[in-house]
Amino acid sequence: MVANTMNVNRARHPHAPGESLWLFGYGSLIFRADFPWEERRPASIRGWSRRFWQGSHDHRGTPTAPGRVATLVADPDAICHGMAYRIDSEVMEHLDLREKNGYLRFMTPMTFEDDSHADGLVYIATEDNAAWLGPAPEAEIARHIAVASGPSGRNADYLLSLAGALRELGVADEHVFGIERHLAGIDFRAV
Ligand code: SIN
Repeated sequence: MVANTMNVNRARHPHAPGESLWLFGYGSLIFRADFPWEERRPASIRGWSRRFWQGSHDHRGTPTAPGRVATLVADPDAICHGMAYRIDSEVMEHLDLREKNGYLRFMTPMTFEDDSHADGLVYIATEDNAAWLGPAPEAEIARHIAVASGPSGRNADYLLSLAGALRELGVADEHVFGIERHLAGIDFRAV
């Protein structure tokens, strides 16, 4: 797949100008909402697990030293908790730019805390994208994250901000918290 998904995404799940829609965020979209939203509600989606398996060439790393950021991988029994935002469709242009490094638009059913449902747009980096890194032991992912950094800041800050935001939501994500534990054991002055 092309390295920059912006043009591909414009043709996927298009929404009419002025239309309002739900966006489901599970990674940096939880802790860095740099776009206007009308309403924000904790939500979950079924059949997906959050994994630090996506490379980042443009935010938390560079093309020659990519960082590791979150994507979703299919996992039939899993429930992924995140944050849903009601946005105007105009915001999608900004989101496509922000998520251009391998993420594609999908639509997913979401469940809110009161058990009501809605469909939401979600950006997922699938394994056929040019920046994909794939699975690795959590200790290795932590060592990778400890040294990476890019135009949006340190890769470690992405991981720690996400872990903190999930705790605030009351969500226990063993993958994220496992990497966080390994990261806490790394002496940053030595890397
Ligand atoms: C998301 O947060 O929903 C997508 C991945 C990211 O931008 O970190």
